[in-house]
Amino acid sequence: MRELRAGVIGCGWAGQYHAQAYAEHPRARLAAVCDVRPERAETLAARYGCRAYAAAETMLAQESLDLVSVATTTETHAEMVERGLHAGAAVFCEKPLAQDVRAAEAMARAAGARLGVNYNRRYAAGYARAKAWVAEAGRIHYVTATLAQNVPLARTEALRANLPRDFLIFDAASHLVDLFRFLVGEPETLCAQASPPAPGAFLTDLSVSLRFASGCVGSLVCSFAGPEWGQLPIERLEIGGASERLVVDNLTQAVSWCGYQDDVMRTWQPSIFEPTGYGQSMLASVHGWIDACLAGQPPPVSGDDALRTLQLCSQIAASVAAETAQGAG
Ligand SMILES: NC(=O)c1ccc[n+]([C@@H]2O[C@H](COP(=O)([O-])OP(=O)(O)OC[C@H]3O[C@@H](n4cnc5c(N)ncnc54)[C@H](O)[C@@H]3O)[C@@H](O)[C@H]2O)c1
Repeated sequence: MRELRAGVIGCGWAGQYHAQAYAEHPRARLAAVCDVRPERAETLAARYGCRAYAAAETMLAQESLDLVSVATTTETHAEMVERGLHAGAAVFCEKPLAQDVRAAEAMARAAGARLGVNYNRRYAAGYARAKAWVAEAGRIHYVTATLAQNVPLARTEALRANLPRDFLIFDAASHLVDLFRFLVGEPETLCAQASPPAPGAFLTDLSVSLRFASGCVGSLVCSFAGPEWGQLPIERLEIGGASERLVVDNLTQAVSWCGYQDDVMRTWQPSIFEPTGYGQSMLASVHGWIDACLAGQPPPVSGDDALRTLQLCSQIAASVAAETAQGAG
């Protein structure tokens, strides 16, 4: 059977996982990678024995690619996705799909089923178990999640200066918004608050309260006050069902089920022989998309799906702005 030829645009933190995922998939071949910082593309190309390019246009013109990953910084996603689609490839884009809703709408409309988006928490070992539990749990009463970590971007003065004010919402909170939609369905209403940032500075602490179409209520908190990147603990999710509560610690570290009647708590923890870290969720997410392409099925997370998450992030930003203005008035 024919292998799908794949290329990766952007060879930074996320792009390395996309490249690894193509190289390891039995029915894909990593043909080329590119980065405007050529040394990054060359390092990755040497690791996987593929070609390196310094410009996406050149890579797309010279390679005949079936699959293209866009793992560049978010402000370039719209242009890179358009280039990949124009070259005839199916495109897998990093989250968030775009920096604003209008750009994301145009991307989703133009791409249809040829665009997938990497909301990889759906593939994290703990959240995959939560999803299976929700399907059997009956009525879900509430969901809460906290994501709090001090990412390098928030730590480095020079990078802080360039961050958009709403970075916390569109970058970090968008993961939790997608996760909530994946686990308990569509939010119907929401309101949000943020700690008042210094003038011109970006948000550091966010709280969102939601009600879902199912009647379930939810709350999420995102903050840059937390352990250094990669250190634990950073994330906790709790879901209350009719007869049992489920807690996921740090995406992949542990899942606990607590019955309301029997004083019994069960816990799942990963086997020491299984790779279950964050990187594994990135690889599994890319593989899920490749498998859908091979089977002619819609992407696990479509452009429309990612657009909906972005629209909710935009509502959160508007709610924060309204609340801040009210506080100031
Ligand atoms: N799914 C996740 O958990 C996750 C985690 C981190 C980042 N991301 C997303 O991945 C994307 C990249 O983030 P990152 O942390 O890897 O950033 P990064 O800065 O480490 O890597 C981005 C790379 O893209 C390259 N690049 C920028 N413009 C380019 C262009 N026009 N053509 C070719 N290369 C270009 C840069 O030189 C850089 O090497 C962002 O959209 C981010 O939100 C997702």
